[in-house]
Amino acid sequence: MHTYLVTGGAGFIGSNYIHYMFKKYGDDIRIINVDKLTYAGNLENLRDVEGRANYSFVKADVCDAAAIDAVFASADIDRVVHFAAESHVDRSIEDPGVFVKTNVLGTLTMLNAAKKAWELCDGSFRPDHKFLHVSTDEVYGSLTDEKDYFYETTKYDPHSPYSASKASSDFMVKAFIDTYRFPANITNCSNNYGPYQFPEKLIPLMINNALHGVKLPVYGDGKNVRDWLYVEDHCKGIDLVQEKGRLFETYNIGGHNERQNIQIIHTIIDTLKEMLPDGDPRKELVSEDLITYVTDRKGHDRRYAIAPDKIKAEVGWYPETCFEEGIRKTIAWYFDHEDWMARVTSGAYQTYYEEMYGNR
Ligand code: NAD
Ligand code: TYD
Repeated sequence: MHTYLVTGGAGFIGSNYIHYMFKKYGDDIRIINVDKLTYAGNLENLRDVEGRANYSFVKADVCDAAAIDAVFASADIDRVVHFAAESHVDRSIEDPGVFVKTNVLGTLTMLNAAKKAWELCDGSFRPDHKFLHVSTDEVYGSLTDEKDYFYETTKYDPHSPYSASKASSDFMVKAFIDTYRFPANITNCSNNYGPYQFPEKLIPLMINNALHGVKLPVYGDGKNVRDWLYVEDHCKGIDLVQEKGRLFETYNIGGHNERQNIQIIHTIIDTLKEMLPDGDPRKELVSEDLITYVTDRKGHDRRYAIAPDKIKAEVGWYPETCFEEGIRKTIAWYFDHEDWMARVTSGAYQTYYEEMYGNR
């Protein structure tokens, strides 16, 4: 029976991962979720698992070495899945410091704590103890050639403070692998979407704005390309890599679903119109007229696209949810969770929105 230490489990992907793991393994695993509960962390995302005997939550900062050591001392942890991070590019442009702190120093703290807990007298590690570092395709930079893709061998070339901090954290994991033969894997995934995503990111922001008749802010010419993956497929990939992947290896995760931002926005508008029942007042608000081109993001990467050949060949991963189905499931989830959206967009979100979009 594996005991998982999941960091950042109250965020978007972390909470989906915890749901996925309990759905897959039930009572055959234990999960300890360590999260600082920043603006992006929300325990409401985990309401339906918090009563489980094999789940516990610890409120702690991944930069707090004493707190992380105490978590390792409290249970026989043999799996770490490290999600905790500052994750939004626009915020990193405004305030890079916290990205370095959480993403770089926080990852180092997690590595040090796991190494201390798992290392044997001869410098090797306890058998079948594994650390998985969750990273992003943004570390590879921006593609110009339409036929080009990010492979695991692609040279790192991060541009934003966010991607630079994630690249640094990846290098620290690689350094632990190369120096200590520390038992880790890295996954670099493309853009995720799905339930529980905070509405600072493109898809939930556009769904929420459209339903309220608020303008849809398109950065630049709207032709930047992202490779979108339904979040559950990412969770499945993480689990497969940790259980079946070759230790020390990096795996890219992506579903060959590249779309321009403006295409995504049109799909959201069309799907909302189709899914909202006649007579629903929100149907009147959803309109192409809301699309508003605004000042581009500084240093905006043009195109991301993952080549998932390695994860497919080595662990048999494939994406199960195509974009048309995934976006419908996502919109249906937001329809059913209007109160969740209302709560996360009250208070501090209003200040954030005004600062980010007020004069754009
Ligand atoms: P998120 O912002 O939704 O969640 C981050 C979580 O980490 C929150 O619960 C937050 O409270 C927690 N956290 C932040 N700082 C912390 C700290 N110092 N100590 C403890 N907890 C802290 O992010 P997400 O979109 O779920 O991303 C999770 C991970 O996946 C990140 O490492 C991100 O880089 C990576 N990733 C995200 C995407 C994507 O499309 N969202 C794609 C590829 C990789
Ligand atoms: P985002 O969801 O922030 O993810 P990332 O920057 O990590 O890829 O943005 C996805 C794309 O959508 C990116 O090209 C920026 C663009 N975008 C907008 O055009 N308008 C917006 O309001 C947001 C949040 C993003």
